[in-house]
Amino acid sequence: MSELQMAPEQLSAFVRGMPKAELHIHIEGSLEPELIFALAERNRVSLPYASVDALRAAYAFSNLQSFLDIYYAGASVLLTEQDFYDMAWAYFLRAKADHITHAELFFDPQTHTDRGVPFSAVIDGLHRACAQAQRELNIQAELILCFLRHLDEASAFATLEEARPHLGKFIGVGLDSSEVGHPPEKFARVFAEARKFGLRAVAHAGEEGPPAYIWSALDVLKVERIDHGVQSLKDPDLVARLVRERVPLTVCPLSNVKLCVFDHLAQHNLKQMLDLGLVATVNSDDPAYFGGYLNQNFVETFEALPLSANDALTLARNSFEASFASPDQKRLQYDRLQACAEGFAR
Ligand code: ADE
Ligand code: ZN
Repeated sequence: MSELQMAPEQLSAFVRGMPKAELHIHIEGSLEPELIFALAERNRVSLPYASVDALRAAYAFSNLQSFLDIYYAGASVLLTEQDFYDMAWAYFLRAKADHITHAELFFDPQTHTDRGVPFSAVIDGLHRACAQAQRELNIQAELILCFLRHLDEASAFATLEEARPHLGKFIGVGLDSSEVGHPPEKFARVFAEARKFGLRAVAHAGEEGPPAYIWSALDVLKVERIDHGVQSLKDPDLVARLVRERVPLTVCPLSNVKLCVFDHLAQHNLKQMLDLGLVATVNSDDPAYFGGYLNQNFVETFEALPLSANDALTLARNSFEASFASPDQKRLQYDRLQACAEGFAR
């Protein structure tokens, strides 16, 4: 199908119902306030907030760091394998409702191991939920281990070493947390080592940081995808390279507004990205903190920007192309997407 024609009132239903992949979700960012309080009670962890409402009221962020401070406080309630399973399973139920058929989940082990939580509790709980999502929800689910870039190289190396006995349970490494002042070069040797183990590589770059960080994520860390990358449009040579090499960008519209990267969704550059031929995808980042899961990101972004049914189809197709699914799995996902589009076409 070349041009997808659809009645405008059908577009929102198509966007919500189309099969899609989510490639940029921090599983700790899916911890809803209600679950934070339930886990705090179960684990006898005290929180600096009196109630669910008081915690939610604190979700007013001025930049990435102001969010990260609360996000790490929220994650402090996670202690046992069961806690990590419960968090991930709650996400998968929401993913199913949003017609997500493939999900690659980021997790931040250092946030937990630095508090004395065993690495195995983190990964075993998450991995158990992923296996169940595949079995019971028909969601293909994978894990990507993220290094915290505000910590040092030695801590990242120690984390990679702890992860080695679990290599079959996650598919790649990523880089997240405070971006500005922590360029990708800081982790060149860790990423080189991870790639020797056959792990895939991605990195947050160009969320708040400059285009130079995207260049070095590609050239120094040799990543296959850029997480966020919205600052790339400041550098035409970089855009030309990203287009030529079909480097995917995992864009998170609601996150970008909540963290004041853009003042309003109407100012977001997602439509420009697609028009330039960039392999952009839509993702939720930290949905419990930023006002919604994947379909909420799609629906609000389509309301705010002049995006068409063809753009929707491109975004869903890009999400599967950008995933680390096998060629056979991708073919299956494209076929499902095509069948869904034909059902909506007029
Ligand atoms: N960790 C969780 N969410 C993040 C984001 N949006 N940027 C960097 N690190 C993060
Ligand atoms: Zn992120």
